[in-house]
Amino acid sequence: MKALVLAGGKGTRLRPLTHTSAKQLVPIANKPVLYYGLDAIRDAGITSVGIIVGDTAREIREAVGDGSRFGLEVTYIPQEEPLGLAHCVLIAREFLADEPFVMYLGDNFLVDGITDLVDAFHETGYDAQILLTKVAEPQFYGVAELGPDGEIIGLEEKPEHPRSDLAIVGVYTFSPAIHEAVRAIRPSARGELEITDAIKWLIGNGRRVHSHFVNGYWKDTGRLQDMLECNRIVLEGIERAVRGTVDGLSEITGRVVIEEGAIIENSVIRGPAVVGADTKINGSYVGPYTSIGGDCVLENAEVEYSIILGESAIRGVSGLTYSLIGRNVEVTRAVGVPNMNQLMVGDHSKIQVRA
Ligand code: G1P
Repeated sequence: MKALVLAGGKGTRLRPLTHTSAKQLVPIANKPVLYYGLDAIRDAGITSVGIIVGDTAREIREAVGDGSRFGLEVTYIPQEEPLGLAHCVLIAREFLADEPFVMYLGDNFLVDGITDLVDAFHETGYDAQILLTKVAEPQFYGVAELGPDGEIIGLEEKPEHPRSDLAIVGVYTFSPAIHEAVRAIRPSARGELEITDAIKWLIGNGRRVHSHFVNGYWKDTGRLQDMLECNRIVLEGIERAVRGTVDGLSEITGRVVIEEGAIIENSVIRGPAVVGADTKINGSYVGPYTSIGGDCVLENAEVEYSIILGESAIRGVSGLTYSLIGRNVEVTRAVGVPNMNQLMVGDHSKIQVRA
C-alpha cells in the first residue's frame, strides 16, 4: 500500500500565519501538522509516500526532505495549479501504479492516527473507505448522508444546505478502482475535480464504499479556538522532558517539555506546556496548554492557553491568554503612553485588547 499526501493549496483560512508559511507546516505542540500525518502513515506500516506540492513546494521540501527521518521514502509530485483533490490522484497515476493507497490531506489532523483505517481496508476489500465526524459547520466540508443501516446514501461537496452534520475527514483509502472514477468525473462549480464526486461515482457504479466514524479531528477551519483545542489535546498526551537549563529560582510543574538550549530563569511553568529549543524565559509565568516555539524570548511575561511560533519576543506583557502569535512577532509594553495600546499588525490579523 502507498500513501498520497496532499500538501498544495494556499491556506487562505489560516492567514496571517500562512502569508509566510505553508498551511501544512502550522505547528501543533511545536510540531508541524504535516509531520503528524507522516508519522501516522509510517505507523500504519506504509513507507512509499507521494507528496503533491504546489506554490509552497520549496518549504514543504525543506521541511520533509527525502522522508528518511520519518522512516519514509518520499516522491514529490508537482501540481501546477490547484485543480482539485481528484486531480491530484490523476497526476499521481504513475507513482500510485496499481496499488491501493491512503490519501491524506496534509492540513488534516487525526488524534488517533490512521492504523485502524488501514487495517480495516486490508481486511475488507472495499474500493473506498471514508471517515466521518460530526462538525458544527458542515457547509465547509464534504458532507455524507447515511441510511438507516449506516450505508452512504448521499455525498455532497460543501453544500449550501447540508443534509447532515457529518463531515468527510480528509483521509481516505482507495483501491485502484478510483483511477477510473477520477477520469470519469467533470469539474465542479468551483472548477475543481472533487474527490467527493469521484467517490459518488464509485457508489453509482456498484463499487463498495464504506464509512467509519472518528473522534479527535482537526482541520484548518481558520478558527483560533480549533487550533488551541487541537494544541490542548496534543499537549494532554506529552511526557515530561527537561532537556534545557532551569535555574534554582524556577518552578516547573507537571508535564512540561523544555527543549535543548532553552534557558528558564526565575520563572514558573505549569504544564502541560512545551518550550522550544533555544528559547529564553526570564521572570515569567507560562500556564497550562501553552506551546512556545524555538528561539523565542519571554521576559516579565505571563501567558497561558496559547500558541507562540518561533523567534517571537514577549516583554513586560501579562495576561496573555487564548492567543495565537506568529513567527518573528514582538509584543512589548507601550512606553510613555499609559493606558494606551500601540499596534503594528500585519494583514488579516485579529487583535482583542483589554476593554
Ligand atoms: C476537502 C474535501 C472535503 C473534505 C475536506 C476535509 O476540502 O473536498 O470533502 O471534507 O477536504 O479537510 P477542502 O477544504 O480541502 O477544500
